[in-house]
Amino acid sequence: MKKFTTYILMMLIAGMTIAQTKTELKEQAKNQFKPYNFFEDPKVCEGCHVEKFERWNVSQHSKGFTGDFFQKQLYDIVIASESFAPEVANAKDDCIGCHSPSAFLAGDKIPSQTLNPDNHWKRGTGEKSMADRGVFCDFCHTVSHFENRPPFNHDYVSAATEAVDTKFGDLEFPWSPHHETATSEIYEDPNMCSSCHNELNPYNIWVKATFTEYEASVFPSKGVICQTCHLQPMGGKPAKMGIPRPVNSDHWFGGGVSGFVEGAARVEIKLATKELAAGSTVDFTVDVQAVATGHKFPTGSTEERDVWLRLSLVNQAGNELLHIPIPKNSNDPNDNYFITSNEKVAYPSHSKLSEPFERDALPEGDRLYHSAFLDSEGEFTYAQWFCVEEIENRLNPLEIRRENYSFTVPTNMEGEVYLQAKLNYRRMPDSFADYLEIDRRPVIQVAKDLRKIKIN
Ligand code: HEC
Ligand code: HEC
Ligand code: HEC
Ligand code: HEC
Ligand code: HEC
Repeated sequence: MKKFTTYILMMLIAGMTIAQTKTELKEQAKNQFKPYNFFEDPKVCEGCHVEKFERWNVSQHSKGFTGDFFQKQLYDIVIASESFAPEVANAKDDCIGCHSPSAFLAGDKIPSQTLNPDNHWKRGTGEKSMADRGVFCDFCHTVSHFENRPPFNHDYVSAATEAVDTKFGDLEFPWSPHHETATSEIYEDPNMCSSCHNELNPYNIWVKATFTEYEASVFPSKGVICQTCHLQPMGGKPAKMGIPRPVNSDHWFGGGVSGFVEGAARVEIKLATKELAAGSTVDFTVDVQAVATGHKFPTGSTEERDVWLRLSLVNQAGNELLHIPIPKNSNDPNDNYFITSNEKVAYPSHSKLSEPFERDALPEGDRLYHSAFLDSEGEFTYAQWFCVEEIENRLNPLEIRRENYSFTVPTNMEGEVYLQAKLNYRRMPDSFADYLEIDRRPVIQVAKDLRKIKIN
């Protein structure tokens, strides 16, 4: 992660300019019809773009349709909840529009359920040929343009035909024996990502706004785009028989996984003294700053992504001696959403349709940075398509958030201890994973700070 942070700093200094898209075409993305065979399978590309394929196969794009979480949510929850309100009647079409564009374009609105769901930890071979291709090579590299500016809700217009299509990209003078090539500026434009990473739900709530968050940051003015961070150069050649290139972009689209989240933010304890008396009460602060994200932290599926700050006194071995809870803020009516809690108040669907489970499934009393989605009954829901209100406290990129703490040194404590601040990330609560009967997601340590204290 150090290397990544250095790389971002380099890009900031270099101040690259963003290529502007020339095409401002406003065609209707609707009414496109492209049967599955209009697109080539990722395995075909692997023949020559070996590394691109290998990296794509570890990305979430390759799991867009077959991912265990998506499969359960779509087939067990979305489809079952469709009849609930007229507004959500077409929710599943939108899911497919972003998660399996070739199924959407083929008009395959309810593709067959996957027999072998995968995830980041269970990858599979990448042998995929229909809806299961998810967000794949030939889809992205035959996109013509987008309907809106900035794009949202899968408003892409595809140029794919029955023939082996021209592949669009950003290489200078490529030559390929398999396909024609053509330069398109959309690949060097963050708007491309916005088409699926900005999502407006049936109640006109922006349930994903990664592009909007990015636009509000300093990064656009520095020429740092989504691709700068998420498609970093990895050396080597873009194609087996091609020439070495200064930039061969890594297609793993790293995001909320280890190696990318680690170091995304930093924490710093501010404590004036190094010696404390047993029984005394101590006030101190902790600064939290997202340093490597080009958008809020967390972003994307913010209803399930959790980032939390745990404060404690630990011994040299790192064992917790005393948990220091975040004080409640009675001035903020939403404060309870921002402190970890295991109350059974979270619904997988609309609150009228199912029973609630534990909200966070984490040790209680820690500061939580996330979004709470509320449904039309004002209940906390993990069903983004039912969200009518978002309540959030996520970290803006580079913003320093100061948290105030206070604790009383236990009278039975003495000698050397450490005050520890740990910032963690998890893709979804265990309670929700258990409800869906899918693999629990690991906890990833984002950052840590320690202060040695002598207790007299
Ligand atoms: C989500 C859309 C997306 C998917 C999926 C995708 N690509 Fe790309 N690809 C891009 C973008 C964006 C760039 C430009 C990256 C840059 O220059 O920063 C690119 C660049 C390339 C290039 C040009 C060389 C380079 O590194 O810039 C090749 C070749 C390529 N992709 C092949 C593939 C293959 C093969 C796959 C599947 C295994 C694939 N792509 C999947 C978006 C995608
Ligand atoms: C028979 C080999 C071969 C196959 C199969 C193949 N490509 Fe290529 N492709 C190449 C070569 C060679 C280049 C040029 C590389 C260079 O000049 O550095 C290239 C270039 C590209 C580019 C860059 C275009 C540009 O203008 O920047 C993209 C995008 C691309 N391929 C996508 C794909 C996709 C998607 C597939 C699968 C559907 C695929 N390729 C299959 C050999 C192949
Ligand atoms: C056709 C829609 C589409 C486009 C275009 C697209 N994405 Fe995605 N992206 C998705 C979907 C869907 C997922 C989540 C798949 C899943 O986990 O089920 C995703 C996941 C990701 C993730 C991984 C997040 C995680 O869960 O860790 C990253 C990073 C990402 N995309 C970056 C990009 C960038 C950068 C671009 C532009 C170059 C882009 N995407 C373009 C649909 C798209
Ligand atoms: C300055 C670098 C940087 C830029 C620019 C950037 N990202 Fe990220 N992104 C990160 C880092 C670091 C993470 C990991 C921490 C996190 O999950 O937020 C991340 C995470 C993500 C995730 C996964 C979030 C999750 O927790 O599931 C998605 C999706 C994503 N980025 C998409 C985008 C898109 C789309 C853009 C452009 C609109 C973009 N990013 C711009 C650095 C960047
Ligand atoms: C506008 C595009 C878009 C629409 C519509 C959309 N998604 Fe997504 N979805 C994404 C993107 C992009 C991500 C990745 C965000 C991230 O990882 O933080 C994602 C992430 C997810 C994830 C998390 C996957 C994981 O492994 O953590 C699930 C589950 C999911 N979507 C289900 C759905 C369902 C069900 C629907 C329909 C109700 C839907 N999505 C509609 C774009 C979309």
